[in-house]
Amino acid sequence: MKVLVIGAGNMGLTYAEGMASSTFLNRRKLMVYDVSPDKIVLLKDMGIFDVHEKLEDALPEADVIFLAVKPFHSEELFERMKPMMNEEQIAVSLMAGVTINRIQEGLGIKKVVRAMPNLPAQVGKGVTSYTESKEVSRVELLMVRNLLDTTGESIHVKNQNYIDASTGISGSGPAYVFYFMNSMLEAALKMGFSEHDSRVLVSQTFEGAVELFNQNDLSPTLWMDRVASKGGTTRAALDSMDDNNVKELIKEAAYAAFDRAVELGEES
Ligand SMILES: NC(=O)c1ccc[n+]([C@@H]2O[C@H](COP(=O)([O-])OP(=O)(O)OC[C@H]3O[C@@H](n4cnc5c(N)ncnc54)[C@H](OP(=O)(O)O)[C@@H]3O)[C@@H](O)[C@H]2O)c1
Repeated sequence: MKVLVIGAGNMGLTYAEGMASSTFLNRRKLMVYDVSPDKIVLLKDMGIFDVHEKLEDALPEADVIFLAVKPFHSEELFERMKPMMNEEQIAVSLMAGVTINRIQEGLGIKKVVRAMPNLPAQVGKGVTSYTESKEVSRVELLMVRNLLDTTGESIHVKNQNYIDASTGISGSGPAYVFYFMNSMLEAALKMGFSEHDSRVLVSQTFEGAVELFNQNDLSPTLWMDRVASKGGTTRAALDSMDDNNVKELIKEAAYAAFDRAVELGEES
């Protein structure tokens, strides 16, 4: 099996690196293509991948093609790719909002997997949701799953509605966590901690809480109860959040991302 990654930006490079460092794929079977001459120099310097400056040299060789360009570049890319595609090739799209139907039409092929990754893939802690067109076989899907899992974990979803929904949870989600972290950092600075100490306080708090959460099946509410005692400091903070409707506002934000993903799909 030969894999081609098109677009070596944040996501494309992350997946290429994940696949290259896994035992699942022989490095020599991993091709990378990008339009940017600067990227090509950088990729060649890395000395890890089979780097291509010409799409014509790489595309016909590939069995699985990762599409990792920005959605607004997809149309021009599809136009270039279409004459070189064959019906056995599988396209794996990481592009937000570009539908399976649009990819099938654009590339003139049937086998498409649509995936929604997230940024922690860069440190091997990503979560990717994915779904496929009916022409992708079970064996092919398993193979794609193994490739996706090289950057973390993946979950299979039954249709594209869940891809848009997971955009609102895990795709955009890291930014919500950073938003929360940023608010706590600002509070720590205001209380007089140094930048360094604020960072340590906030980052260890997040890391420790997630580790506790992953230890067993306790719900976040039960964990909150373990930290908060009646009339205590944590309860004062949680009451303040409840009074300000923070929970509902966060849910609304996740839905805003979900709705925007649907909108982008309709535009595509
Ligand atoms: N970043 C995230 O957290 C995230 C999360 C979920 C999904 N995604 C999806 O992942 C995809 C990639 O995002 P990204 O953040 O990795 O983008 P990015 O950093 O901009 O990388 C895209 C790369 O593709 C290159 N490119 C543009 N047109 C091309 C073409 N026709 N052929 C080959 N290469 C081309 C770009 O070159 P230039 O810079 O010269 O244009 C750039 O190097 C997007 O569709 C996005 O929706 C990203």
